[in-house]
Amino acid sequence: MEDNLEGIDLEMYGEAAMSSDEERILDELGIHGAERRQFLGQSLSGAIGLFAFHLLAKEQALGAIEISSEALYSPTVGIENAVDVAFKVNGAAKTVQVDSRMSLLDTLREKLDLTGSKKGCDQGQCGACTVIIDGKRVLSCLTLAATCKGKEVTTVEGLAKGEQLHPMQAAFIKHDGFQCGYCTPGQLCSAVALLEEAKRGDASHATGDVRKDARALKLTDDEIRERMSGNICRCGAYPGIVAAVKEVQTGAKIAATWHFATDEEIAAAMNTEVKVDATV
Ligand code: FES
Ligand code: FES
Repeated sequence: MEDNLEGIDLEMYGEAAMSSDEERILDELGIHGAERRQFLGQSLSGAIGLFAFHLLAKEQALGAIEISSEALYSPTVGIENAVDVAFKVNGAAKTVQVDSRMSLLDTLREKLDLTGSKKGCDQGQCGACTVIIDGKRVLSCLTLAATCKGKEVTTVEGLAKGEQLHPMQAAFIKHDGFQCGYCTPGQLCSAVALLEEAKRGDASHATGDVRKDARALKLTDDEIRERMSGNICRCGAYPGIVAAVKEVQTGAKIAATWHFATDEEIAAAMNTEVKVDATV
């Protein structure tokens, strides 16, 4: 068919799709009828050819890139606005190449395999992604990795020293400060950074007389609740979290409200007769 260019309907992409201005220009150039269709066909095939040429050249260039099996991070192919970020993570020097819009949370989880920090909401509402940067707690989902150049990041993986738990981790276990554990990495980082805030005397909304109280604080339950309020726990482990933070922050020994069952308790429970109500 005269108006078809290898299956492309020129009626659709040609005359029918022309604006009145384009039609006027062709009229003024004296291009009409079959001559106009031929002109449109040539223009369209030229544009398609140019597009296909660019696509082919791009595919060939990408295909020619060799990716080393020892690459430290994902290849840069496809990374827009790539930036190198050199920083310390849990005491070790790291360099990653990221899209300048990539969050610290995604960088930790996807580039450095540190999946302890959790993505709860990805919009600064839940605290599951809390990490410590240069001693201060931050939400890593709202922090661009590109802004962390030269900084020191501590995640939950960096709190323990080898086999030795951080005192806050031990206190969380003692006081049953978690259930499913999803919020726990963020709670722990928040609680550890909170210790420094209290030492510095940083005031919170719950601090009474700022001039008097805002120094080396011993935190009350209300203060701890207020300062930990950015970390949500859907399991409701709050009483245990408050007890754990209070014990570590004040140094006061707080009795645990639970314990593992002893052999005797288990045996007694096993021997307990279960009475079935036959009337039901
Ligand atoms: Fe960052 Fe919820 S994932 S605050
Ligand atoms: Fe389950 Fe906090 S322990 S969300």
